[in-house]
Amino acid sequence: MEANIPKRKEPGKSLRIKVISMGNAEVGKSCIIKRYCEKRFVSKYLATIGIDYGVTKVQVRDREIKVNIFDMAGHPFFYEVRNEFYKDTQGVILVYDVGQKDSFDALDAWLAEMKQDLGPHGNMENIVFAVCANKIDCAKHRCVDESEGRLWAESKGFLYFETSAQTGEGISEMFQTFYVSIVDLCENGGKRPITNSSASFTKEQADSIRRIRNSKDSWDMLGVKPGASRDEVNKAYRKLAVLLHPDKCVAPGSEDAFKAVVNARTALLKNIK
Ligand code: GTP
Ligand code: MG
Repeated sequence: MEANIPKRKEPGKSLRIKVISMGNAEVGKSCIIKRYCEKRFVSKYLATIGIDYGVTKVQVRDREIKVNIFDMAGHPFFYEVRNEFYKDTQGVILVYDVGQKDSFDALDAWLAEMKQDLGPHGNMENIVFAVCANKIDCAKHRCVDESEGRLWAESKGFLYFETSAQTGEGISEMFQTFYVSIVDLCENGGKRPITNSSASFTKEQADSIRRIRNSKDSWDMLGVKPGASRDEVNKAYRKLAVLLHPDKCVAPGSEDAFKAVVNARTALLKNIK
């Protein structure tokens, strides 16, 4: 008898999550949320005063997710208001403006602010971070390129997206992946699942790419003192070439860094007797 009864699919459990937005003032946090929730864009800047709160429901696999979104003001003036809201967060949308280097450089300070407010027992490892490199529609003003942003995000195990709240590019994809990752995390006992990208390159590779990118001349790029000998230049070159060779290194920006190192060595050897 029982064999004839159709198997009922177990309804997925509903889940309540808290998500916050973080990043400098005017980078587009509120616009990203508005674009996703209301499918529209407002070009006039209306600074968030303290915190804006909203609730939305999304479906992830067989689960209904109730999302509480706390959209934070980025202005330093609102620090006292923000610090109430960091705790019990499962997901952070961390935004910078690709045309404002300051807003990219400030990402570490945002993480530090959150860490400080969570206190010594707070754990950032069980939070999903989605980094949004926003305003990609303003290509002319872009000064933080994709590989630089991706390298920063992926070396921390964060998700990375290129977004435009104005055109909508990347926004749905970002939210979908973000929510799926949060559900995965909740189902994984609160531990961030290891992503392919975070495991695919080393800290040494990421640090070298960053150092090469920020170096002021060819000596600096190879990490040797000005006036170093041919041997010293070749030794430094070989070490970096092994570390960053495109066949071995998949870190964002490794190809450009490798080319820069090859060019630096050629330029230096030309002038060393
Ligand atoms: P605070 O609330 O002060 O922390 O700022 P915010 O990060 O919430 O910035 P908001 O979303 O209010 O956007 C700031 C300005 O940038 C507004 O004038 C928006 O119209 C504009 N803006 C936001 N996203 C984009 C985008 O993707 N492209 C372009 N071109 N402009 C954008
Ligand atoms: Mg805002």
